[in-house]
Amino acid sequence: MDRHRLLSATFLSLLALCFISETEPASFKMVNKCRRTVWPGLLSGANSPPLPTTGFELKSGKSRTITIPKSWSGRIWARTLCTHHQNQTFSCVTGDCGSQKLECAGGGAAPPATLAEFTLNGAGGLDFYDVSLVDGYNLPMLVVPKGGRGGGCGATGCLVDLNGACPAELKVAREGRGGSVACKSACEAFGDPRYCCSEAYATPDTCFPSVYSLFFKHVCPRAYSYAYDDKTSTYTCGSADYVIIFCPAPYTR
Ligand SMILES: *[C@@H]1O[C@H](CO)[C@@H](O)[C@H](O)[C@H]1NC(C)=O
Repeated sequence: MDRHRLLSATFLSLLALCFISETEPASFKMVNKCRRTVWPGLLSGANSPPLPTTGFELKSGKSRTITIPKSWSGRIWARTLCTHHQNQTFSCVTGDCGSQKLECAGGGAAPPATLAEFTLNGAGGLDFYDVSLVDGYNLPMLVVPKGGRGGGCGATGCLVDLNGACPAELKVAREGRGGSVACKSACEAFGDPRYCCSEAYATPDTCFPSVYSLFFKHVCPRAYSYAYDDKTSTYTCGSADYVIIFCPAPYTR
């Protein structure tokens, strides 16, 4: 390596160091305002740094703050109606991640589940986040950025209890019990590529809202209601911390 290249390499490393020290980790505070215990699940995207936890129990009224690496992308959801079985396995009626343990360990949420999706420190140094009902709904959820700069930094989520309001053909009932525990997406319920934005409908120009996605959009206007719902559903904020509330007030379940 000649002297010039060595110098520029050193300069680049120093520059990289500056960026690393400027981008501190984010804190995510998860709050359970539901009447019952929930079990948050966390899934990192491909090439995303690992998290301190991938799943835990959060009792009603409690909160837990975790440190999220600054370039993390992934999703967070809540599992409900979970049981530690006598045979040492663990499973949940909604949002189960298939790990058979408290920690999801790389498992994603079984639909239907309300998802909070994040890409931290993405394009322009901004965080991108949304709450998605594309994989259905299991409980109300709110994402509130704190202390960010740049970007709109709006709160997003779905505040309404959709389990009660869910169209009959999308409702998920708990085995042997009344009531509804989740609400499927039309894609999951009917497997139609038109609802799934797949096959011939896999672009924003060919996949349109359906009566079902419009139902979700009407009740939860800020949340993603189908795969190409980007314009009204993606939020940005610079270097923020986030509060993620399950069953935000005034709705309690
Ligand atoms: C453990 O018990 C649960 C509940 O009875 C059952 O659904 C599950 O299949 C069992 N798992 C194994 C590995 O035996």
